[in-house]
Amino acid sequence: MEANTVAPARVALFLHPAPRMADLRFLVFGGSLRKNSLNDRLAGLAADAVERNGGAVERACMRDFDCPSYDYDLEAAKAFPLGATRLRDALCRVDGLILSSPEFNASMPGCLKNAIDWVSRFSPQPFMRRQALLMSASPSMVGGNRGLWSLRVPLEHLGARVYPDMFSLAQAHQAFGADGQIADPTLRSRFESTINCFMDLVEAAKHYPAMKSQWVEFLGERTTAETERVEQAA
Ligand code: FNR
Repeated sequence: MEANTVAPARVALFLHPAPRMADLRFLVFGGSLRKNSLNDRLAGLAADAVERNGGAVERACMRDFDCPSYDYDLEAAKAFPLGATRLRDALCRVDGLILSSPEFNASMPGCLKNAIDWVSRFSPQPFMRRQALLMSASPSMVGGNRGLWSLRVPLEHLGARVYPDMFSLAQAHQAFGADGQIADPTLRSRFESTINCFMDLVEAAKHYPAMKSQWVEFLGERTTAETERVEQAA
């Protein structure tokens, strides 16, 4: 080989450096309050997949974050519920969120929306620039996928980077094998690859930031001390 040429393997290594997953941390939880929740089971599998792929997991459940109905008077009295504080703190500790949400009447469960509403009132607002992967499990044929489209709306509104792909497990009451894994091998492999690709993106966003961004809650709003909700990127 001539003096100024670089071996192909080293060029490939330069172009595709090994992802650094070891310092990535993910909050993983299901959006259901009930015991034996299908979404909590799916969240458990997601947590296992993250760890197999080298990431660290903070595992939680919806009960940890459940809040009384949002009430401006409580907020004004600085009486944020414990569930909201816990969710805010957990989000601040992680690089990404993996959330498996039930679908209730083609939308997200009220307890989840309520927790998001409470957390949105903190400043800094912790969903901003947080990477998020959405999943769902339901006994129905659509697997709760419609609920995820509704869940995208407040999360994207709050500046979360919601991963374009989502994973919905249809007929979930029959979808888990005796070993607790997704029984269908094709679905199982799609589940794993969705998580691995999401982790690649979180890794890139963490280690190779490319954009300065700004979150504005209401475009065109006159900014007074009462209404100012703009947060500049660091
Ligand atoms: C449901 N369920 C449901 N499923 C679905 O696929 N689409 C829907 O629109 C609804 N709507 C709905 C409304 C309400 C009020 C309830 C209680 C249930 C069924 C739901 O997906 C099922 O109960 C799941 O098992 C709930 O998720 P967990 O608790 O198992 O995680």
